[in-house]
Amino acid sequence: MVSKRFFVIFTIVFALLLGLPFTSTSQRQPNVEQRIDALLARMTLQEKLGQLQQLDGEANGNFRPEHRDLIRKGLLGSTLNVRGAQRTNELQRIAVEESRLKIPVLFGFDVIHGYRTIFPVPLAEASSWDSAAAEASASIAAAEARAAGVHWTFAPMVDIARDARWGRIVEGAGEDPYLGAAMARARVRGFQGHDYSAVNKVMACAKHWVAYGAAEAGRDYNTTDMSERTLREIYFPPFKATVDEGVGTFMSAFNDLNGVPASANPFTLTKVLRGEWKFDGFVVSDYTAVLELLQHGLATNEADAAQLSLNAGVDMEMVSRLYNQHGAELLRSGKISQATVDEAVRRVLRMKFRLGLFDRPYADDARERSVILSAANVSAAREIAGRSIVLLKNDRETLPLAKNLKSIAVIGPLADNQVDMLGSWTGDGITADVVTLLTGIKSKVSPTTKVSYAKGCEIAGDSTQGFDEAVRVARDADVVVVAVGESAGMSGEASSRSSLDLPGRQLELVKALQATGKPVVVVLMNGRPLTINWMAENSHAILETWFAGTQAGNAISDVLFGDVNPGGKLPVTFPRNVGQEPLYYNHLNTGRPPDANNKYTSKYLDVPWTPLYPFGFGLSYTQFRLSNLQLSAPRIRADGRITVSVDIENVGPRAGDEVVQLYIRDVAASVTRPVRELKGFQRLTLRPAEKRRLEFMLGPEQLGFYDREMRWVVEPGEFKVMVGNSSADPNELVASFEVQK
Ligand code: BGC
Repeated sequence: MVSKRFFVIFTIVFALLLGLPFTSTSQRQPNVEQRIDALLARMTLQEKLGQLQQLDGEANGNFRPEHRDLIRKGLLGSTLNVRGAQRTNELQRIAVEESRLKIPVLFGFDVIHGYRTIFPVPLAEASSWDSAAAEASASIAAAEARAAGVHWTFAPMVDIARDARWGRIVEGAGEDPYLGAAMARARVRGFQGHDYSAVNKVMACAKHWVAYGAAEAGRDYNTTDMSERTLREIYFPPFKATVDEGVGTFMSAFNDLNGVPASANPFTLTKVLRGEWKFDGFVVSDYTAVLELLQHGLATNEADAAQLSLNAGVDMEMVSRLYNQHGAELLRSGKISQATVDEAVRRVLRMKFRLGLFDRPYADDARERSVILSAANVSAAREIAGRSIVLLKNDRETLPLAKNLKSIAVIGPLADNQVDMLGSWTGDGITADVVTLLTGIKSKVSPTTKVSYAKGCEIAGDSTQGFDEAVRVARDADVVVVAVGESAGMSGEASSRSSLDLPGRQLELVKALQATGKPVVVVLMNGRPLTINWMAENSHAILETWFAGTQAGNAISDVLFGDVNPGGKLPVTFPRNVGQEPLYYNHLNTGRPPDANNKYTSKYLDVPWTPLYPFGFGLSYTQFRLSNLQLSAPRIRADGRITVSVDIENVGPRAGDEVVQLYIRDVAASVTRPVRELKGFQRLTLRPAEKRRLEFMLGPEQLGFYDREMRWVVEPGEFKVMVGNSSADPNELVASFEVQK
């Protein structure tokens, strides 16, 4: 005790001498809650409701003249989309110098995968299975955004998505709660750091709470209806991970959830989030989601909508103004309480303090100029994009390509396309910064290599006019690289599709190129799994590059020519046809699991039940071998832990990355369990012939589940452990152990 106190005093004195900050912001301001009390005591009801209001400053970063006025009167707590040091400072000055209580404005913006330097879309980053990469990209995005006056990003989106029709699958980490939680944690860490009052950090927002990704039929904004167990085991974990990481805010979703829309759902917003998880930040509604309670048929009028959301636990209202318009009357009639209003305001102010806005409200435009799109940021974007690329097929070692080929044909509507590479949610990214695939290839090959280009066709549309030229260009080349896929606008919000096929005439273009007999490398650029059976069967090589961001062309070329050996793995299942959706690896077994020799089992008449590419799948230019799987004990107690160890060896010709994946199956339990569940993974780089022993730990957090009474339990019985390079690795290693009574 004495020595601990001595150590603390010593550290403080030492830090003071050095002039170092020695505590986090919240610790530096032990009296934050008292300062909030003091503010609350002085605030009028309208000023309080103003703190609960967020308005859209319009997409081009301007703000509406009305906002100036509202801020001057203390009636607007936050904006979205206003950005840039100069613009934000202009508004902030009004808040801090002209409003009665001088409460700073909170500037929010969708910094989803980069601010100006755009990184690969989040689904791509999840394909890296590399949380350090996701953290690094979020950290750079935060530094750029904060320099531009943005305090708060509406990210990460941590919605689990099991249905590729849903366009917003591109914004998340795919279908798995374990991988999703790892990515969620990394991204919050990257955005916020340990102290988001820092000049290079922003406050994060876990969205969309909750189950938005389960929209029926993959149609955006649609209803979701699911068991509490599925919510808790599949959809909650990435959100819980963000709370564990100290996320500042949550966003309530648009969807109906089991009959109570997520933006008015006391179970999720209060019982789970505040009660069970002790979240002390605030919840913002999604865009006009409070008003939409009328359309849902939950609210009878606007005042009712405000009351339902606020009482359920939505603190700040985005864009619609019902709290403001009806707060006073609701308070008078007793439909909301003063305590509820004060608590919501307290949460918002707490985050403004935690962001350091009362001490440093302004952005610094010199910093903005030096940080944004810096050479270091751009090179990180290239590296992270390279780590996100997944090699789906590589027959006869078509890839990597030699840099001194005589000639390469670069073809396709996405081959020289700056617009779509950025994907959905482009932050402040601009297309002029984007390196296209054609440019990337040209700067990679030797000066003697002839690179010719033809567009072939558009992404969508019916014209085949460009086919002849494309075929001519292909015939003249040693190898054809064809870039096909979706436009950026085909995934993202309000961009669900009922077909997962390549749009337009692109598949015909690929077929025409294939008919030339030249080796064809397909470079896919897309925001969701696509049904690519023909290419999977006939093309020589396929690279899944998603939308790889500002440095797309350079990163893809690094992989095409072998400077980077691809090590990404799919974070989501690729179906053979859209009718298989939702298709995901961690499903239950059914009483009649598929059996090719028995019609009366769970499958389709017209398509195999298996995916085209399974979750976790991805190839490399080298090969790896797993061996020597061992468990530290044959049996453990329910509260015990077991270590799983395995050797991984690079048995191929080049250095490369493998993602070793550990799955478990609880063979029989009081509640049926998935056929497999990911419970560990490690991405590592090995030189040729290098061998390493990896360890994974399994304990109650990995082995448990929610029982019939929704209690987390580890039940006795047999557990299988499977270690492989995907969720369907034919050479995976298997062992079992027992949990004892
Ligand atoms: C989206 C959110 C986004 C918000 C603000 C909504 O339409 O659903 O994800 O953060 O707009 O732009």
